[in-house]
Amino acid sequence: EKGGWSSFMAKEISEQPEAVANTLRTRIVDGAVVLPDLGDLAAHLGEVDRIIIIACGTASYAGMLGKYAIEKWARIPVEVQLSHEFRYSDPIITPTTLVVSISQSGETMDTLMAVKYAIEAGAKTLSICNTQGATIARESDAVIYTHAGPEVAVASTKAFVAQIAALYLFGLYLAQVRETLMPAEVRGALKELSAIPAKLEKVLKTSTRIRDLAKWMSDSRAVLFLGRHVGYPVALEGALKLKELAYIHAEGFAAGELKHGPIALIEPGQPVFVVVPSPRDPNSLHAKVVSNIQEIRARGARILAVAEQGDAAVLPFADEVIPIPLAGALFEPLLAVVPLQIFAMELATAKGLDVDQPRNLAKSVTVE
Ligand code: F6R
Repeated sequence: EKGGWSSFMAKEISEQPEAVANTLRTRIVDGAVVLPDLGDLAAHLGEVDRIIIIACGTASYAGMLGKYAIEKWARIPVEVQLSHEFRYSDPIITPTTLVVSISQSGETMDTLMAVKYAIEAGAKTLSICNTQGATIARESDAVIYTHAGPEVAVASTKAFVAQIAALYLFGLYLAQVRETLMPAEVRGALKELSAIPAKLEKVLKTSTRIRDLAKWMSDSRAVLFLGRHVGYPVALEGALKLKELAYIHAEGFAAGELKHGPIALIEPGQPVFVVVPSPRDPNSLHAKVVSNIQEIRARGARILAVAEQGDAAVLPFADEVIPIPLAGALFEPLLAVVPLQIFAMELATAKGLDVDQPRNLAKSVTVE
């Protein structure tokens, strides 16, 4: 079943272009989003005034990206909560609250219980799910299926990029309904999204270099990940992958938070992955992240930068630059996460670990 691949994880990482393409397929027609999946829920979307996204682990990082996209495009306030925290925070839910759950398996007990709580409290519910007919999908008012195909490796990879694609489709759909974007803007964003599969193919080609890097770094005791704005959830995901696969202490930070404490962790030789925003970023975050790189470099950090190809400003300060193709700001995470997935997998492999079945973990967490 693994085909020629050394692991399911390697196979599933390589399937990410299709996972995104299949999730978009049939849902973009003449430069607009069509989501018949929404059924009766569609009629209520005009009145939604607040969205709460609930998910766990990797799916929650997809949720964070969904927040940036939905707020930017549809101007609806979105909050992201871990499913297992949600119910205990006495959340404010009204009939105009939409609760969006994200789950690859559709069986995660924490998320299922949160969905049931939301229904009970009178919210409308939408799920983003990869498993046909899963419990969470059945409980929700509507489901947008991700079409990543079955994910066997415990660590989520292709489901993550498919979740982002589905959330972005939904964000653009809301923008259409609420007319917060012009049709041409929706069309432009959909063009960006449709270009992701081919760009992912390009990123996958950098994997040999990352394998070498992971081999050299296999005795690392701790690895830090920095990112800003949409690069922040990518940093969190890179750290989670490394923890769960290679059993290395890893932490993701918002780069702006460094000076508020974490910079004390930097000592000579400390490896730090930095997800660098594009130099074309409309928020001008690029210069700020480059200056973060200089600060930690001056303290001896070993910098591994994931940066847009041709980003000359990073080169003088990074020990290694992993290039990603040009993409609009919100779309970069779909590309930047891939080298981090490969890094974690290769480092675990170099340590002789089973990447498909990390210790202590199960694919679907059906207990609370
Ligand atoms: C990490 C990972 C987990 C899952 C989380 C939610 O690689 O796979 O963090 O993302 O347990 O699982 P689902 O999406 O099935 O609800």
